Amino acid sequence: MLADNIILIGFMGSGKTSVGKKLAESIGYDFKDTDEMIVSSEGKEIQEIFLKHGEEMFRKLESRLLLSIMDTLEMTVLSTGGGMPLRDKNVNLLRLMGQVIYLRASTSTIVDRLSDDTSRPLLKGENQQEKVERLLEERDPIYKKAAAIIIDTDGKNIDEIVKEILGERRRLNAYENLSN
Ligand code: S3P
Repeated sequence: MLADNIILIGFMGSGKTSVGKKLAESIGYDFKDTDEMIVSSEGKEIQEIFLKHGEEMFRKLESRLLLSIMDTLEMTVLSTGGGMPLRDKNVNLLRLMGQVIYLRASTSTIVDRLSDDTSRPLLKGENQQEKVERLLEERDPIYKKAAAIIIDTDGKNIDEIVKEILGERRRLNAYENLSN
């Protein structure tokens, strides 16, 4: 395994998929999305997996997926489901696979982006704002701890975020080369 991949983590609606696609395109990498890979291997939508088998089963599928791709993933931008870093062992695997980048967004940005969305089982029903607030408070420290780079995405468009990621990556790579 070459650890040359870029791994995007962050809350639902933080832009991992749209930023990831643009980033991959701009550096000639492949783009993959863990949710999409699970949907295609299980033949079921995420909502259906949550509904029929529960969140714990979905988390197992996420870990299983990482194990199955870790040896072959290369030159890829991997966008991960928002709950992927909740398991420590997933974080360890992600770090082995590449540079982990946290796309950070505030509650209001996330609520704005997801207000019409019905595809996220964890945010279904009433009080979306409260649910986002509570989950984000719980997860922000986990995302921060897992990441080598943190990018604040509030008020920025996709191109600006991609540019910032590439700049931070260059800086981090230069620093790592210096300390070797
Ligand atoms: C989840 C995020 C979703 C998806 C599932 C659970 C989470 O992915 O994996 O609904 O726990 O945050 P996105 O972050 O791509 O929406």
